[in-house]
Amino acid sequence: MKIIVKDNYSEMSKLAASVIADLVRKKPDCVLGLATGATPIGTYHELARLHREEGLDFSKVRTFNLDEYLGISMDLTLPYEMDQSYARFMHEELFKKINIKKKNAHVPYGLATDPDKYCKEYEKMIADAGGLDLQLLGIGGDGHIGFNEPGSSFDSRTRVEHLNQKSIDDNYEAFYKKAGVSKEEMPKKAITMGVATIMEAKSLLMIVSGIGKADIIQKALEGPVTTQITASAIQTFKRDVTVILDKPAASKLKKL
Ligand code: F6R
Repeated sequence: MKIIVKDNYSEMSKLAASVIADLVRKKPDCVLGLATGATPIGTYHELARLHREEGLDFSKVRTFNLDEYLGISMDLTLPYEMDQSYARFMHEELFKKINIKKKNAHVPYGLATDPDKYCKEYEKMIADAGGLDLQLLGIGGDGHIGFNEPGSSFDSRTRVEHLNQKSIDDNYEAFYKKAGVSKEEMPKKAITMGVATIMEAKSLLMIVSGIGKADIIQKALEGPVTTQITASAIQTFKRDVTVILDKPAASKLKKL
């Protein structure tokens, strides 16, 4: 595992974007697994800049997002602040700023009428694309990757997951509160790639920022491998895994 500490969020984001950009240049039709949340915003903005200023070409790139809240999907008729779907997030933060083809950018469909069946189809779509070349990950305050909450099996695949209170609270503070949505109205379930789905990627790139993540990332990288912290599964990853942290997030690591 490669662990890299950068001075701040901006430097972390630039390096993460350069890892992704290198892959896109090397393999123009690569398959990227993408994440949402506060952490990757800087990375996406840097990728958009590389597209705009240096012509980084996404025309053949395919993407699959980790997760989406159940019961919502992108609704372009809603005012921006009201639509908290991850599809909308991806559109705003990345897809509309690069030349990716709409048909190649996949976010789990939160309004699927038969979500269990849809989850199997999502797995098949990833497999049919040839699997994920790189999966970008953040880490949740409870140690989740994707929305694989504590206790999720390492054999889990794409499925509907109940969000635990910590995830609901964190997402409320980061996004929903600003949108004027009450905690009671927030989605309590999500479609998420499973731990096994994520671990089948050819490479992993985790980004971690801020003092608020220092304890949980220390446990995930240096503590026991446990389903109570699903991010700890990356310790068992056999191929290329890079973790980029900013200084505050890395401040509790002992083995640097
Ligand atoms: C999002 C996702 C989550 C986030 C995690 C960290 O698609 O899969 O696991 O990566 O909750 O979120 P932020 O970056 O908002 O701290």
